[in-house]
Amino acid sequence: MNTSRIDELRERHARAEEGGGSERQERQHKEGKLSARERVQLLLDEDSFEELDKLVRHRCQDFGMQASVVDGDGFVTGFGLIHGRQVFVFAQDFTVFGGSLSESNAQKIVKLMDLAMKTGAPIIGLNDSGGARIQEGVASLAGYADIFLRNTLASGLVPQISAIMGPCAGGAVYSPALTDFVFMVDGTSHMFVTGPDVIKTVTHEDVTKEHLGGAMTHNSVSGVAHMLAHDDEDCLRRIRELMTFLPQNNLDGVPRRPTKDPDDRADQELDTLIPPESNKPYDIKDVITRVVDDGILFEIAEHFARNIVIGFARMSGDTVGVVANQPAFLAGCLDIASSTKAARFVRFCDAFQIPVLTFEDVPGFLPGTEQEFGGIIRHGAKLLYAYAEATVPKITVITRKAYGGAYCVMGSKHLRTDVNFAYPTAEIAVMGPEGAVNILYKRDMQNGDRQSKIEEYRDHFANPFKAAERGYVDDVIEPHETRSKVIRALRMLKTKTDTMPRKKHGNIPL
Ligand code: HXC
Repeated sequence: MNTSRIDELRERHARAEEGGGSERQERQHKEGKLSARERVQLLLDEDSFEELDKLVRHRCQDFGMQASVVDGDGFVTGFGLIHGRQVFVFAQDFTVFGGSLSESNAQKIVKLMDLAMKTGAPIIGLNDSGGARIQEGVASLAGYADIFLRNTLASGLVPQISAIMGPCAGGAVYSPALTDFVFMVDGTSHMFVTGPDVIKTVTHEDVTKEHLGGAMTHNSVSGVAHMLAHDDEDCLRRIRELMTFLPQNNLDGVPRRPTKDPDDRADQELDTLIPPESNKPYDIKDVITRVVDDGILFEIAEHFARNIVIGFARMSGDTVGVVANQPAFLAGCLDIASSTKAARFVRFCDAFQIPVLTFEDVPGFLPGTEQEFGGIIRHGAKLLYAYAEATVPKITVITRKAYGGAYCVMGSKHLRTDVNFAYPTAEIAVMGPEGAVNILYKRDMQNGDRQSKIEEYRDHFANPFKAAERGYVDDVIEPHETRSKVIRALRMLKTKTDTMPRKKHGNIPL
């Protein structure tokens, strides 16, 4: 054995683990952030991490960079297990040149992504980076473009998860934007294309880092991020939880988590949960959690477009994707934000063979100039397209309102939804009674007639029976039966195959 080589190896490994030095590591901790290595250890099952490319060094000769070489070049990359299943992970070390991306460490990520695609395992990126390494110029930009290409190639092939765990700028936000789920840590993470200083110079606008690109901004206003974590530990724990719902790749099939919750559990409270008054709000999450296994809904993007709820749950042990209008917020209407939020989720589920379970209570699209000028037609079409395109098992339960175009959009039979149920409280019509009566009897209605006309319309149209008589609704069910009806339908659909016509790809309205 060549002992001097062993010594060198140990020394270089130790230097790689030091990162940017103890002072910078301390600063990281003082700011409430874990180090890149601590994050990887917490994310993965104990003692399962195998590191790759720990000896890679940057090759930059400019700006005196020869003098500051750190083994590993500031990125910790490798593979390990989450709940016993393979994942690939990279973590950027902010203590080494601000976690910036160089030609060399970009190739570490590229190698990881190629391995993930070849082996069919998810990729998780823990981002804490000032973007392209300024000293490397076009070589670091090329590194980002190499990663963006792979983010795109891997999309729909393996799940891609990003956690934003520090100040992320430039390319460090565009790569996460191409991935499926973006987590942010409250108070310590920021995302922006350009920071407050550049904004001040260009537009003279004064804005704080937090307001511009903090975790709550991206979770509630921009919709760029899907999960808000309290701190690093919470973020990593929740990524582990998300992984329990996801398949390894597009061919894997959903993971099973057996449950003691009986398939035929009947929840009598569901029968009184939907208010008979059609304008009275209720929380659709109360319906969802009474139907799914053990009352567990892993909600995605809960702070953004709260008029629609999306998330993962299990039915009889198998993952389903849940999409539900939320009558407790904006009456559950569809608008630009809720349409895009749900459309992307439906497409994720479809790409990864996850059945889609829809709960529908929607008065229609939100009217007004703000929505029309913002392109509700274009954005609403995304959700229509996503449902129509999806070939996974699809089940829709109409709990109350299914009006107008929104009836068509929300997993209607006509968009090849497999099983459609409606509650007796369902109202399925072109529009609500008040609006319809105003239009139909505009010219010849006496004042006293209005209420009776509304009642007449409601009796005639605002019920589930017209749709059931045509087979657009397969059955009108009592709410307490929902769980067993849906589980039986999902069981029947387990072997479902459906296809799209042969083509290169469609042209979803973006
Ligand atoms: C090289 C960088 C760096 C970078 C930070 N550092 N960003 N080194 N390249 N991009 C270094 C700093 O010099 C410093 O080194 C250390 O990291 C910590 O940085 P600070 O500024 O002290 O930290 P902080 O105050 O927390 O601010 C973090 C920051 C800021 C907001 C990320 O550093 C910043 O604005 N950086 C530049 C962001 C940016 O514009 N990047 C390029 C984007 S273009 P020392 O030695 O002092 O510890 C891009 C193109 C991709 O990415 C293409 C997209 C389509």
